Amino acid sequence: MKVTVVGAGNVGATAANVLATKGFASEVVLIDIKEGLSEGKAMDIMQTAHMLNFDTKVTGVTNNYAATAGSQVVVITSGIPRKPGMSREDLIGTNAKIVKSVVDQIIAHSPDAILIIISNPMDAMTYLTLKDSKLPRNRILGQGGMLDSSRFRYFLAQALKKAGYDASMTDIDGMVIGGHSDKTMVPLVSLATYKGIPVTQLLNQELITEAVEQTKVGGATLTKLLGTSAWYAPGAAAAAMVEAIALDAKKLIPSCVYLDGEYGEKDLCIGVPVILGKNGMEKIVEVKLEGDEKAKFEESVAAARNTNSKLGDALK
Ligand code: 2OP
Repeated sequence: MKVTVVGAGNVGATAANVLATKGFASEVVLIDIKEGLSEGKAMDIMQTAHMLNFDTKVTGVTNNYAATAGSQVVVITSGIPRKPGMSREDLIGTNAKIVKSVVDQIIAHSPDAILIIISNPMDAMTYLTLKDSKLPRNRILGQGGMLDSSRFRYFLAQALKKAGYDASMTDIDGMVIGGHSDKTMVPLVSLATYKGIPVTQLLNQELITEAVEQTKVGGATLTKLLGTSAWYAPGAAAAAMVEAIALDAKKLIPSCVYLDGEYGEKDLCIGVPVILGKNGMEKIVEVKLEGDEKAKFEESVAAARNTNSKLGDALK
């Protein structure tokens, strides 16, 4: 399988690195507009191949979309990252233009590719990609749910530790739906478990609320610490989605997809649980939302629609 990663910044390079070490792709092309950046990062990754025992060929190119031709999956990270104090939504004007131009060039060379969008504001960029490319919705996915769910699991582990359970991270399950946005993402407490045990049996309300709130601002917390947005978990999340598609694994991964009546919504892209396989999005799983989760999801939908309304001319 050939995979392209557009953007050799921190997130793109991490995605390429994780993809290489996982070994299921025969070829990963890293492309960037900055002369030499992709070539350098690809060479650096390849110089780990013997030590890390992988055969994936990682190549870097500057703005040469012909080299991406025939990719089966393309991860798009292009655009500016946020700085401390900025919301993801603040990036919309600049990133919409960049994402649109990238998508056009990618589709011209890889007309059958499945696209995974990471550029922020991710839900709006996924919607823009769908409208601009006119591709079927199963082939346009946004990465946010996988990342936010992984952060939720991390904060649940921290909460469990405070409650006296020093849990293995891989024993914790949790899912975040809604928009990839500090204010409106929806960590689903009702479905969160520690090895099958509902976390609500082990954590008091204070610890649960703390884990939920920390998850929601998980990206902003890292942006404050790092001076730019995070990359290890975002890159790994993209690679996990590519893996589910490449291996036709039918993994249930919350992803940003176009809704056409599911969850009672139409004409927007937002995070919901999705089965990922060789066709990209194979099925949207409609889970029963408990307590205020439904109202929170609706708030998230309203916020995503509001951000989409700012796409303006980019949608033409
Ligand atoms: C994050 O949440 C970059 O949006 C990404 O870290």
